[in-house]
Amino acid sequence: MKQTKKAFYQVNEYLSLWKKALDDNVLNENLKQKVKNASPYTKILDLGTGSGTQIRRNIDENLIANNGLIIGVDVNYDGLLSSKHDYELWAKENDYELIFTKCDSAVLNFKVSKNDFSCLIKLYNVSVYDLKSYRSIGQNFDLVNALSLFEHTDIEKSIKVVKNLMNDGAYLYAPINYNGITQVRPLADDLSEQQDNNLMELFNEILINTQNVGGVDYGQSLCGDILPKIAKGLGFTIIGIEDSNWLITNKSSNYQKNAYEMFLNAIKTELISANNNEQLKIKQKLEINCELIESWYRSALKNFKSGVGTFFCTNKDILIQKKLGVFNDN
Ligand SMILES: C[S@@+](CC[C@H](N)C(=O)[O-])C[C@H]1O[C@@H](n2cnc3c(N)ncnc32)[C@H](O)[C@@H]1O
Repeated sequence: MKQTKKAFYQVNEYLSLWKKALDDNVLNENLKQKVKNASPYTKILDLGTGSGTQIRRNIDENLIANNGLIIGVDVNYDGLLSSKHDYELWAKENDYELIFTKCDSAVLNFKVSKNDFSCLIKLYNVSVYDLKSYRSIGQNFDLVNALSLFEHTDIEKSIKVVKNLMNDGAYLYAPINYNGITQVRPLADDLSEQQDNNLMELFNEILINTQNVGGVDYGQSLCGDILPKIAKGLGFTIIGIEDSNWLITNKSSNYQKNAYEMFLNAIKTELISANNNEQLKIKQKLEINCELIESWYRSALKNFKSGVGTFFCTNKDILIQKKLGVFNDN
């Protein structure tokens, strides 16, 4: 499964450094505790596993049973391959031993052990849509993680597939990093609140809702609102939905600060170069031109560099459970 162009969120450095630090801060403790209370799990599935941060979190937090199995899947083959480096770093820092072996169609297959504990990790290059027919994955998972995955897929189609792989009573844990409209605060000096809102709406339309790059189908900025409704319709029980804000401040790590500057720059470049008919129409409707974008960029960057700049948007953590006694669809 080869991808020609990668989306920015498929770059391992972004996932391991920026996104991990963000998740460590915003993942809701209450829902995490609920997931923990039902542990240990013998079989965990990590959808859209990326650089593997959630798999490592599951092990660090003792969620996986001794001799348990964790399967990670992702459409990004190169990302899976390079996650080996992240696992090795983590193992070194935490005294785990890793033993890699070759195994049928898995991109990486390895055992993690420390003292009397061990578990097996298998990473497959497969899309969530194809899991049902991908025999090596199997079924009977008692925990499925999907960190920032569903906003990049057809939600209903993917949840239907996943439901068939879950045990009765199993949890689906789906924190959605991005829900709603981004705001860059404080407000850029030369812009009114209305102009700022329009600019962020444009960003939403152009960058978030049209992420059809890198073999990834969708960008759905309201996934966190839509997903629970779809899940309910499919017979899942909603265990909890929690909002939190993510923010980058002058206390953030150097990597996050650099990434934030790149992010502001990317917004500027993308918004300025958005010039097809549809995009121009939206720009016109929102009364946005290049000068306005430039001026927003200069001011947002200045605010950030002076130490007060903060970027935030809403993270929505969702925990749902496959109801006991609900049969699988065929
Ligand atoms: C925002 S990243 C999240 C990565 C990881 N879960 C984390 O939280 O660090 C989304 C991931 O989903 C993967 N992805 C997108 N569409 C997919 C699909 N249809 N099936 C499997 N993985 C997919 C991307 O390649 C990417 O690695």
